[in-house]
Amino acid sequence: MTSTGPRLQCLYPDAGTRALELEGLYLDECWRAGAVPGPEGCFVYANFVASLDGRIATAAEPGGSLEVPAAIANPRDWRLYLELAAQADVLLVSGRYVRELGAGTAQAGFALSGDAPADLLNFRARLGLPPRPAIAVLSASLDLPPAPLAAVRRERPVLILTGAAADGARRRALEAHGCEVVVAGQSTVRAAQLLPELAARGLRYVYAIAGPEVLRTLVVAGRLDRLYLTTVFRLLGGDRFATLLTGELLPAPVALRLREAYLDQDGGPAPAQLIQVFERVWR
Ligand SMILES: NC(=O)c1ccc[n+]([C@@H]2O[C@H](COP(=O)([O-])OP(=O)(O)OC[C@H]3O[C@@H](n4cnc5c(N)ncnc54)[C@H](OP(=O)(O)O)[C@@H]3O)[C@@H](O)[C@H]2O)c1
Repeated sequence: MTSTGPRLQCLYPDAGTRALELEGLYLDECWRAGAVPGPEGCFVYANFVASLDGRIATAAEPGGSLEVPAAIANPRDWRLYLELAAQADVLLVSGRYVRELGAGTAQAGFALSGDAPADLLNFRARLGLPPRPAIAVLSASLDLPPAPLAAVRRERPVLILTGAAADGARRRALEAHGCEVVVAGQSTVRAAQLLPELAARGLRYVYAIAGPEVLRTLVVAGRLDRLYLTTVFRLLGGDRFATLLTGELLPAPVALRLREAYLDQDGGPAPAQLIQVFERVWR
């Protein structure tokens, strides 16, 4: 592991007392011990980078595809995203993302694929973990191109989670390509059915790297244990955007508690940002 530049200023819980290297922030070998699993035996965490006005993705034109804006994507946040992947047994991704992979328009491949930093692979080896976390795809439509799934199956397990109402022919086609398809809900996947399926396969540290629908699936069911959020100090505006959650107001506000906060700001050309870790208030 090598230093990547400016140090972080810890704002919470030890305000001002520590200046930390960004690299390695989440590579604690005791990280799992501090992650208390929920009722199904899984610890579920999600990670987002957002602008000050709450955009996680924007579309350049009406009807255009949503993308993480270049104004907020940055290598330092990406490093933390990968470190969190290094702690995971399984990555939750969306059907939409797999379609973008198939179309060649995805902004990045599966986390910790061939381009994974060596120190992260070494970290997983030290913990006795397989080199790469498994992939769990949430898809109600099962409109999934088999090629990117077949490619990733060569390096790690892949599971597709869907609802009982999913199209049978699409399901059989995916199974014919060697994909395991599991029903975990009716029209859509429910977290309370998804997590036992993952736990039964030994996939207990669950890293949600999809967007607002998958996060909603977890939050509505009370299954989000920790939220990693990087807020980049930039305002983007625009009215074609995604934010952390989609859909109706939540039945009740979900309260989170600040667990850690770090200021990443050195006055240089890189965007200043606040790195925050929130956790559930109760369990
Ligand atoms: N800034 C950030 O940190 C960040 C992080 C993540 C994503 N993003 C951006 O946010 C945008 C949206 O991302 P996304 O589409 O991957 O995320 P998403 O809104 O969570 O996922 C949408 C798709 O996932 C499937 N899905 C979600 N919940 C489901 C459920 N309960 N049951 C069954 N299927 C379910 C559906 O696939 P089917 O259509 O196949 O049924 C749906 O179309 C993208 O532009 C992405 O780049 C930004």
